[in-house]
Amino acid sequence: MTEPLEYQITLYPDPLLRKPSEPVTAFDDELAAVVAAMFERMRASKGVGLAAPQVGLKRRILVLNHTGEEGDDLALVNSEILELAGPRTTYEEGCLSFPGIYGEVLRPDRCKVRYQTLAGETVEREFEGFQSRVIQHEQDHLEGVLLIDRMSPADKLRNKIAFDNLVYDYKQALAKAGR
Ligand code: CO
Repeated sequence: MTEPLEYQITLYPDPLLRKPSEPVTAFDDELAAVVAAMFERMRASKGVGLAAPQVGLKRRILVLNHTGEEGDDLALVNSEILELAGPRTTYEEGCLSFPGIYGEVLRPDRCKVRYQTLAGETVEREFEGFQSRVIQHEQDHLEGVLLIDRMSPADKLRNKIAFDNLVYDYKQALAKAGR
């Protein structure tokens, strides 16, 4: 028998997704367990990245794997982008909090990031290409910035029915929960 996953994905327009996240201060077993459960959720949902607010946690934690190879798992704690550089490119991004919705987002190719590891060690590292894009997307989540804010007006319009459906589903779920 398989255990149900610990975390469920918080879907748009849940207001949790708009709240800024708070710094992690304890680098302990609990943090390691949260990160492991986030990786598990990310993989089960076939995502390339996941930010803590997407599983209902207001904490500055990101997990990602831009290739799907086991060795490319990356967990960033208290990450901040120090510098964005390189040519700006567009790429069609998706987000686990917006199932079925995709839109072109313009972002610089490279980013320099300062973050802490699970052990609390501070690292400064540069990323480029798709991995940099995933980090920039996930970092947005920590500030409550979402795919819908970044996509072009044309893509927003093209996805209008899907957005309306998510809002409808959210309201139905609230009503069912009697809130
Ligand atoms: Co996202």
